[in-house]
Amino acid sequence: MLKNTLLQAVQAAASEILRFNDLDIKISNKEGVNNLVTEVDHASEKAIIDIIKQNFPEHHILSEECGDLVQDSEYKWIIDPIDGTVNFAHRIPICCISIGVEYQKKMVLGAIYNPFINEFFVAERGKGATLNDKPISVSKKENVVNACMVTGFPYTYLDEPNGPLQVFERFIRRGVPVRRLGSAAIDLAWVACGRFDGFYEHKLQAWDSAAGFLLVEEAGGTVTDLNGRPYSPYQPGIIASNGIIHEELVEWVKGNVPAKS
Ligand code: IPD
Ligand code: CA
Ligand code: CA
Ligand code: CA
Repeated sequence: MLKNTLLQAVQAAASEILRFNDLDIKISNKEGVNNLVTEVDHASEKAIIDIIKQNFPEHHILSEECGDLVQDSEYKWIIDPIDGTVNFAHRIPICCISIGVEYQKKMVLGAIYNPFINEFFVAERGKGATLNDKPISVSKKENVVNACMVTGFPYTYLDEPNGPLQVFERFIRRGVPVRRLGSAAIDLAWVACGRFDGFYEHKLQAWDSAAGFLLVEEAGGTVTDLNGRPYSPYQPGIIASNGIIHEELVEWVKGNVPAKS
């Protein structure tokens, strides 16, 4: 029932998003430069919340555009109605709906769907992760130097010591490919299915990573904060990897890069 509602909510949001395909989209700015929100983010969010409320009116909901709809419940839905809004506003088909469900403060279900390329990722705690119903697993890459990485940058907060730009430069100077897709949820989903070996980002919100971190864990990978400690989506930093390179990756992000051989 919980999973059916999740899948139904994602499908309803996808129909809303695709409905705007050939229409002009109203775009506005949130605080900060280029921090966009479109009318489609709101339409997607409404479709999702309507379905959750029909099925589970007593559940707690946290969603990017409408905030915290607090209820006294052991279940909490964490929703990003469009992750990759800047891409979406520019008609770049790298964006998705991302929803995680917590039970007793543990993420138990997650779904990430990119309707433009029809990739539907689902994770269920203890039951693995799938892409379009087929089981997925993380890569087998053994070291960071040969890895293909992905990251993202916040709208502000870039220049701090060991902040996003410094860490990015560290990888690039050593010739490690680091992609930047513009959707943290897709970054995590693509680590889960082995396209990327690792992902790090300094400043995410719970809705960016709620579904994705469960996907990576259920696909056999490891997710921690920026210091290698257990991960919580309620703090900003994240490192996700195939697990094999995780310790080494944490050291790279901290600034302890091995000497060139
Ligand atoms: C953003 C994306 C991006 C990340 C930003 C997020 P949004 O989410 O996940 O990859 O770098 O920090 O805010 O605003 O497109 O939902
Ligand atoms: Ca997001
Ligand atoms: Ca969003
Ligand atoms: Ca946003």
